[in-house]
Amino acid sequence: MSRILVTGAGGPVGRHLVADLLARGHAVTGLHHRAPPPRPAGDRHRCLQADLRRPLDPAVEADWVVHAAAVTHLDPSLTASDYARTNVDGALHLARHVERGGIRGVIFLSTLSVYGSIAAACLREDEEPRSPNLYGRTKRLAEEILLDLPADRDVLCLRLPGIAGPGDFRAWIGQALLALRDGRPVTLANADRPFNNLLEVGELGRLVDHVVREGAGGQHVVNAAATAPEPLGEILARMRTLCGSRARLVDQGRRQPSYWIDTGRLERVTGFRPAPTRIQVARFVHANPRPRDSADPTALPASA
Ligand SMILES: NC(=O)c1ccc[n+]([C@@H]2O[C@H](COP(=O)([O-])OP(=O)(O)OC[C@H]3O[C@@H](n4cnc5c(N)ncnc54)[C@H](OP(=O)(O)O)[C@@H]3O)[C@@H](O)[C@H]2O)c1
Repeated sequence: MSRILVTGAGGPVGRHLVADLLARGHAVTGLHHRAPPPRPAGDRHRCLQADLRRPLDPAVEADWVVHAAAVTHLDPSLTASDYARTNVDGALHLARHVERGGIRGVIFLSTLSVYGSIAAACLREDEEPRSPNLYGRTKRLAEEILLDLPADRDVLCLRLPGIAGPGDFRAWIGQALLALRDGRPVTLANADRPFNNLLEVGELGRLVDHVVREGAGGQHVVNAAATAPEPLGEILARMRTLCGSRARLVDQGRRQPSYWIDTGRLERVTGFRPAPTRIQVARFVHANPRPRDSADPTALPASA
């Protein structure tokens, strides 16, 4: 059992990670910001309200930190100062805390947005950034801040695609699932091109658990995504079957550059191989049944 501090524990991804790591036997402190912390789920679960724009209370102890707190591109009202204060100052405060607190390592939830617009057909970590937005630029700076930690601390920066989870339809694949469930046509481009641009949130939990148990073997930046890419058209056709939809798939042909994500470095560094794309997509569909098919409280109405 490790003691794990999860920042961003009020967000959809952090919330899921807290529950997942508790279920895997760890002791978890969930750091919440504005949202009121939930009631602790057992004696291995602690809740902590804190603002990472300020230094953390030195009394907060952990063996590992999973840094999921951020402001993201989804809120258009954010200013450059908001990104700098949360994503950059927040990483600085966390790094100081890790250094002083004798914490063994940090797993940072970074993003593919650090690359900006991607021209390569196969995305590797050495891809030159092309006009990344403020979100991507501040997340990259946060990576660099954490990678400045002393060499005896493990640092794993995970450059993540859309994270797919129960009741979370923000990623492209979530929007596609809502349309399919609703019987609305789904428009797609590059149907014949390989696609693995997602990580299912349970798979992220498995990866974090693996790294906490085995270590990250130093300080690394890695892409993390599903493995075994498949043509996008086939994936959508299977999703349509899995959710019993008759929605039309409207193929627009080759429209824009498309890429698949190389996860080789993640696998070499951590020894963890994420599940294949078809498995992760199926888990996502099964985690989000149509509301009338189930009493699952996480199943949102198709119009959500
Ligand atoms: N979701 C995806 O598809 C995806 C893809 C790639 C990377 N990521 C990364 O994964 C992480 C989690 O994603 P998410 O979708 O759950 O993000 P999210 O919905 O934006 O949640 C992030 C959390 O960070 C907290 N936070 C913001 N400012 C804070 C501050 N000053 N102090 C402490 N906490 C603060 C927020 O709390 P309040 O709302 O209470 O302020 C929120 O709960 C993020 O770092 C994101 O960059 C996500």
